[in-house]
Amino acid sequence: MTEEFKFQLTQNLPQEFSIKASAPSNIALVKYWGKEDIQIPKNTSLSFTLSNCKTTTLLKLELKNKASDETQIQVFLDEEKTPSFIPKIQKFFHLIDPYCPYLKHYHASIHTSNTFPHSSGIASSASGMGALALCLVQIEKQLQPNLSLDDLRKKASFLARLGSGSAARSIDGGLVLWGKHQKIKESSDLFAIPFNDGVHPVFTDFQDTVLLIDRGQKQVSSSLGHSLMNGHPFAEARFAQAQDNITELQTYLASGNVKEFMRLVESEALTLHAMMMCSRPYFILMASQTLEVIHKIWNFRDETKIPVCFTLDAGANVHLLYPRKYKAEVQNWIDKNLKQHCQDKAYIHDEVGKGGEFLEIS
Ligand code: PMV
Repeated sequence: MTEEFKFQLTQNLPQEFSIKASAPSNIALVKYWGKEDIQIPKNTSLSFTLSNCKTTTLLKLELKNKASDETQIQVFLDEEKTPSFIPKIQKFFHLIDPYCPYLKHYHASIHTSNTFPHSSGIASSASGMGALALCLVQIEKQLQPNLSLDDLRKKASFLARLGSGSAARSIDGGLVLWGKHQKIKESSDLFAIPFNDGVHPVFTDFQDTVLLIDRGQKQVSSSLGHSLMNGHPFAEARFAQAQDNITELQTYLASGNVKEFMRLVESEALTLHAMMMCSRPYFILMASQTLEVIHKIWNFRDETKIPVCFTLDAGANVHLLYPRKYKAEVQNWIDKNLKQHCQDKAYIHDEVGKGGEFLEIS
């Protein structure tokens, strides 16, 4: 139990709440792969918060007649009842009970929608849990108005993490760091922190085009993937490498060294997939089109000297990263040369964004 985020319920609760918030997806540059306990990461990770790929959630709470009544939870995705989401939310509410004790006094209905298609292969868990956590901390602000914005964002990241690890990084904007790092004093395993101080301007508006290579469900869930790092023959070396990569990346971020940034980011993506390929059981999440695209990126970069690189999350989709300055040329090249490798020729242009937002409360 983490004392810092416990909430003392002393006041009478309002009859109802209606809160709306949104949170974006994020893409890790240094990857989180391997955890213990409840989303305690085995290494520090660092991500870009995105802007266009986001979830907006309206949380409606209605006071129960008796606290002992079973909490009714309803979930609507794009205004359609989606009972399949209920068990995950129920589990999440149960887990966060010590930190959000007011919740058990309410029935909840959650109306959520994503800007990206459900079947895009883009995980909605980071943005979804981020948006829900931001709704919850808004309730706390109502109950305890003296809580600072900083406290609220920290708690939102803490709660989002309990829902889905990488969701901790979907609250703040720009570059976000999660997981204790020996050289970064404020870093924590419990919540993510913004990591924008001293970052060169080239990285503040970086572009990310998500090439949707495979729009299906992941064949291997990230929970299973993380668990396969337990007893993995290369686990300890990988966790140590990630810590070093954070330190190294920090120097490139400060100096604006795009070339070395790209080398490190691509190496992180391939290392993540290499870990998957040599876990027991082993598995491959890249598709043949993922490799085709990677080779095209390398050729384009060699021929044009335009700095573009790729990263991957736990799936076949490719995130193409490039400085804003090259947006027109790169997007034109994607349309002519990469689109055909995407399922239904689909891709999403995104960029570094500002993080989650409180939208309204009544
Ligand atoms: O948050 P989870 O449990 O879905 O894990 C995310 C893992 C990666 O996307 C592969 C890496 C990361 O740091 O986001």
